[in-house]
Amino acid sequence: AAIEKNGYDHFMLKEIFEQPQTIFDSLRGRMDAQKNQITLSGIDAIADKIQSARRIIIVACGTSWHAALVAEYVIEELCRINVEVEYASEFRYRNPIISNEDVIIAVSQSGETADTLVALENAKQQGATIYGLVNVVGSSIARLSDAGSYTHAGPEIGVASTKAYTAQLAVLQLIALKIAKIKGTIDDQKFTYFIQQLDAVPEKVQWILDNQVEEIKRIAKKYADANDVLYLGRGYNFPTALEGALKLKEISYIHAEGYPAAEMKHGPIALVDETLPVIFVATKDSYHEKIVSNIQEIKARKGKIIAIVSEGDQRVGDLADDLMVVPSCDEVIAPLLAAIPLQLLAYYIGVERGLDVDQPRNLAKSVTVE
Ligand code: AGP
Repeated sequence: AAIEKNGYDHFMLKEIFEQPQTIFDSLRGRMDAQKNQITLSGIDAIADKIQSARRIIIVACGTSWHAALVAEYVIEELCRINVEVEYASEFRYRNPIISNEDVIIAVSQSGETADTLVALENAKQQGATIYGLVNVVGSSIARLSDAGSYTHAGPEIGVASTKAYTAQLAVLQLIALKIAKIKGTIDDQKFTYFIQQLDAVPEKVQWILDNQVEEIKRIAKKYADANDVLYLGRGYNFPTALEGALKLKEISYIHAEGYPAAEMKHGPIALVDETLPVIFVATKDSYHEKIVSNIQEIKARKGKIIAIVSEGDQRVGDLADDLMVVPSCDEVIAPLLAAIPLQLLAYYIGVERGLDVDQPRNLAKSVTVE
């Protein structure tokens, strides 16, 4: 059957609005707070490999690479195992050192990305165990993997990935918790706490969609003529900044750059003047004070500050020119929420500029050539 837009102007908007359901679907049946248990048969199948692995390498491209980067932070924190994140296109050509003590997680919406597929084939030949996290059932990467999980986001039609990204983040959180359980690096109380945090994500995403869209439309109108936009974040939300910038580039053709907020003073700060919008992903986390001082540094140089903040954050509220609010949550989960306003902002700026947001120029939904 044809996939319809269901009254939405574009597939991208429809897919953004589907996220409370798709995140729920990606978690459904896989976690049980009562039993303190996560069921991921793919991880069970390679549990012994994970136990003895000297590291986990996550291989991906584009938006999926951003999900991988979040997972690096989460897995290292919760599982105390070394994680490396690789661009598939680099990994496949640079003769990496791989052995049968490596577990490779491939992240891919389509499961057909040529660079990712070949990178995996090479690693498999060298003895690595391949775990595929893909959205499209029966795709090439799914078939090549030794084990894996599907993200269950449903078909994604918009070329810019939205719901597939948050589904990847959700399942990567489950994978991290499951590995932590296998390795014994998490206690029961913390495990239950994270399950409850994840369980609350769909309704928190719904809250953003119910309460922030009008404000984000207004912000989109205000900045639709920008020539450059800088996205800054730290820690778990550093990849969120990269993903926000990629979404804007794809959909609006505005030059955008994502950067770790503290790295800004090593170069990009030279770009800041009164014409530059700077988007801070500044949700409440353990180093919130640090990003507040980064905001002050930009403000002192007259940059326009747009901030994503946790509900009730008066301090950043007073510093910023414009605000996008998300519900409070644990910092480990925050990228799942902070992604949503940035998707909406890119979408409404693209629409404001009169562009074909579902089919941006020069882009294909899956890149099956190198
Ligand atoms: C995302 O908005 C992009 N269109 C693109 O970066 C994409 O994420 C990348 O090509 C990877 O695709 P995959 O997840 O299907 O492997």
